[in-house]
Amino acid sequence: AAAPLAYQVIPSDHARSDAQREALLAGELGFGRIFTDHMVSIQWDKAHGWHDAQVRAYGPLALDPAAAVLHYGQEIFEGIKAYRHADGSIWTFRPEANGERLQRSAARLALPQLPVAEFVESLRQLIAIDHGWVPSQPESSLYFRPFMIATEAFLGVRPAQAAGYYVIASPAGAYFHGGVKPVGIWLSRDYARAAKGGTGAAKCGGNYAASLLPQQEAYANGCSQVLFLDPVEGRYIEELGGMNVFLVYRDGRIVTPALSGSILEGVTRSSILQLARDRGMQVEERKIAIDEWMQGVASGEISEVFACGTAAVVTPIGQLKGKDFAVGDLDAPAGAVTMAIRRELTDIQYGRVPDRHGWMVRL
Ligand code: COI
Repeated sequence: AAAPLAYQVIPSDHARSDAQREALLAGELGFGRIFTDHMVSIQWDKAHGWHDAQVRAYGPLALDPAAAVLHYGQEIFEGIKAYRHADGSIWTFRPEANGERLQRSAARLALPQLPVAEFVESLRQLIAIDHGWVPSQPESSLYFRPFMIATEAFLGVRPAQAAGYYVIASPAGAYFHGGVKPVGIWLSRDYARAAKGGTGAAKCGGNYAASLLPQQEAYANGCSQVLFLDPVEGRYIEELGGMNVFLVYRDGRIVTPALSGSILEGVTRSSILQLARDRGMQVEERKIAIDEWMQGVASGEISEVFACGTAAVVTPIGQLKGKDFAVGDLDAPAGAVTMAIRRELTDIQYGRVPDRHGWMVRL
């Protein structure tokens, strides 16, 4: 294996004071609006491999206007959080899973593979300098956004021969305005998120770009997220704009769409499957027709529906709406199974219960 990258650490000369940082962290954090003082950058090119690892001031990137990412969207990213435990220590959740997914995304987008150990090290390097930015308000965290872009200045359509990997970090509260209240979901019939054989299983910016117009339609209809159906038959549920989805049956089953090649392989999704098995629930990963959701909620067979993701954690879904129908009740309280699973997951992440699956890694 290649030797670990040696980092050059260049502290920011405009880092905010302790008082400024504490004031920001004591306020409304929301999601993705506030950034820490530093970032990680690592360069790659075909001749030299990974090199020039730095921790440096957070700030604008200098990119050649011909950089491939700006034209052909050759980009991938990750989402992963750091949690502050009661004793002040800082931990992250299953970082190898995210590092491995970044590698799978890289393979699909013809970008270079960052070794998983370097992925984890990049998080450690940023925490070593910006640890003061991990908030301690209840249910808050520091959201890392690692990403990789094709930087080669060349307009030919082929995999770029130069790329950059970066990590920025953002203190975060609830993803949805209103905290853990049930959200409404808009069923998109006119648009798909990803194609058969496309990039749906990769975490690339293009998937999210494709979700924005239907997401706008969701907002226009009073919903927080859009639900996509499978791209071939338009019949089976896949995922939301930026999160996976679970149905809970009154008889104790918990069901989520099977990984189809066009669904994002969520780390939170796989962790919830494990926690549900631990609870003795019958877990099913399979095709779920949209009619099953609509009829199951209407008949009461399906008692709860929730969304999950690193950013969303576990968020109850109160209502499913489409052009000519609505099922569920936005004002109904969040379901008991949803909230119990959310509690179990966050208890592990915040160190309130033993980490029985060995998911937590100290940074
Ligand atoms: C995450 O949950 O971390 C995501 O990446 C989803 C979204 C905010 C893009």
